[in-house]
Amino acid sequence: MTPVVMIPGDGIGPEVMAATQAILQAAQARVDWIEAVAGLSAMERFGEPLPDVTLDLIRKHRVALKGPCTTPIGKGFRSINVRLRRDLVLFASVRPVQSLPGIDVPYRDVDLIVVRENTEGLYAGLEHYVVPGVVESLRLVTRDAAERIIRYAFELARTQGRRQVTVVHKADVLPLSDGMFVDIARAVADDYPFLEFRETPIDRVALELALDPTRYDVLVMENLFGDVMSDLCAGLVGGLGLVPGANIGARYALFEAVHGSAPDIAGKGVANPIALLRSAAMMLEYIGQREPARRIEESVRKTLQNKRGLTRDLGGDGNTESITQELIVNL
Ligand code: NAI
Repeated sequence: MTPVVMIPGDGIGPEVMAATQAILQAAQARVDWIEAVAGLSAMERFGEPLPDVTLDLIRKHRVALKGPCTTPIGKGFRSINVRLRRDLVLFASVRPVQSLPGIDVPYRDVDLIVVRENTEGLYAGLEHYVVPGVVESLRLVTRDAAERIIRYAFELARTQGRRQVTVVHKADVLPLSDGMFVDIARAVADDYPFLEFRETPIDRVALELALDPTRYDVLVMENLFGDVMSDLCAGLVGGLGLVPGANIGARYALFEAVHGSAPDIAGKGVANPIALLRSAAMMLEYIGQREPARRIEESVRKTLQNKRGLTRDLGGDGNTESITQELIVNL
């Protein structure tokens, strides 16, 4: 049994987490869940959305699965996710995006991995008033963090047998920061002559992804570009309810669905658990439990193909319980 910290989160979080746990158990994953809190539930118990006890549990057990957390707005709280990434140095956001059967989208054969730098860029939180009416937001890019994420992307491409890595940039208008990012990517690419290397401005990547997403494979970029591009790529295959996500560092790893806590449907039993379930499958891969991970991925495909018991966001008339049952039957 591998201990894994489990954070149910807010809104639909506990609903999709319970479904995910049931499916992992049916897939014979060997996981010992250790519950921790973050988000509104943590506010109620500890007076803050990300208590130290939760961070300490992740530091102890190294791996966590997290449901979406509501970020209290206008109360001076920074996003829980930004804090988790920074405090645990989860420098790489990894989002695999693949076409799925039975999903009605204009694209086929999409198979991308978006790798996003998670710790700096505009998310460094360096923002201030220069004078009233003038705000400066600083975009921090450091050589170490740039090389760390680019090397991570190339290693990921190598170990997963991918063909190509594209560094996504805007070096023409940001010659110092993105110029350095691209220079580092060129140097790292020299160590991987067996992978095709491309350096492409973000606007062209956006256009080409809309025209033909099969032109790309692994994409690596800084924080804000990655935030936007990873949601765009999720849209190519059916949206945030389907794609998994991981935040990986040198010591810790946190797996989570990329959708939010969906307050509009919370408590109604209609949430789609697939994004969290597939994040859990990525987590199983990460801890070396390949067989249950493979079974879960296959079950997701079969369930979507059969179109039975699907939740409303997937065009069905089922609910969380019916899709969970289908996912278990199809394991
Ligand atoms: P959201 O992703 O929660 O909801 C957007 C729309 O998608 C809603 O109509 C919702 O019903 C639907 N939806 C989302 N997940 C679904 C699922 N699994 N099954 C069926 N339908 C689903 O985004 P929103 O409304 O902008 O954010 C709500 C809260 O979530 C905010 O407090 C925000 O800060 C937080 N949030 C948390 C994230 C995290 O913890 N990773 C990520 C994004 C937002």
